[in-house]
Amino acid sequence: MALKHSPVRAVWRIAWTMATFTAAEIVVCGLSAFPVVLIWWWLTRWSAPSTAARLALYGLALAPSYILFALGLMVVSSLATRVTGWWTPPNAELRIADLDRPLLNWARYMASIHVVRVLAGTLFRATPIWTAYLRLHGARVGRRVYVASLALSDYNLLEFGDDVVIGDDAHISAHTVEGGVVKTARVRLGDRVTIGLGSVIEIGVEAGPGCQVGALSLVPKHTRLHANAVYLGIPVRRADRESAPGKAQGGDWQRDK
Ligand SMILES: CC(C)(COP(=O)(O)OP(=O)(O)OC[C@H]1O[C@@H](n2cnc3c(N)ncnc32)[C@H](O)[C@@H]1OP(=O)(O)O)[C@@H](O)C(=O)NCCC(=O)NCCS
Repeated sequence: MALKHSPVRAVWRIAWTMATFTAAEIVVCGLSAFPVVLIWWWLTRWSAPSTAARLALYGLALAPSYILFALGLMVVSSLATRVTGWWTPPNAELRIADLDRPLLNWARYMASIHVVRVLAGTLFRATPIWTAYLRLHGARVGRRVYVASLALSDYNLLEFGDDVVIGDDAHISAHTVEGGVVKTARVRLGDRVTIGLGSVIEIGVEAGPGCQVGALSLVPKHTRLHANAVYLGIPVRRADRESAPGKAQGGDWQRDK
């Protein structure tokens, strides 16, 4: 046990994790940039009629180059995740102090999806392209799903039905950290679920088809939300007309744990 928590082991494990993550990202970003490099190699060899024409062409090519790189990054990073096996393990409890392999794999996974979030997410969120990226990363996502928020993580443990909409800044994560332990559980949202702007959906939450979570609400871990119901507040309470006549007057608030 003493050996497991020795400072030397910890430093070595953290250094190894950071080095392998950095090496992987250099390869991923390099491969993603390759088509752009080829295009610029061709552009720089183009015999332009004048310097002004050459400069104009470079200027015009800049933004499309970045978009092409960002698209490539989404594909290559998803392939890299499959090759490395850096995922969030389902239903796990990982002590941070132990620095065991599953925890370090999870840390590298979080870091690698963050790189894509920063470099590509701001361009493509709320589009079918971002939905396709989540799918490539192992999320089980139905048709016509729109994710406007970049605050999702643990994609391989997310399951969304058809016509799900996730509002901007909604936080959906299949991991939490409590008392020095990383805990994971799948998040499942049925068909036509809407998660309101800025809401927090904790681990293990399941929402039935047609369920609506209001803006700025908190759904605690392992909560089951009823189909076709409206939930509001911190923590959420059921507020639709069926359960609370006269609108959200607090009479019959409910959720299942
Ligand atoms: C939850 C929601 C769907 C409810 O809509 P609705 O059924 O039409 O209900 P109402 O707007 O009539 O509001 C019902 C009551 O709940 C209150 N309420 C509405 N949204 C609330 C919220 N997010 N938090 C707390 N209370 C809320 C209203 O003030 C109202 O209270 P009152 O009866 O005392 O006046 C809607 O308010 C909402 O939050 N939509 C967010 C949609 C969103 O963010 N989509 C993401 C993509 S843009």
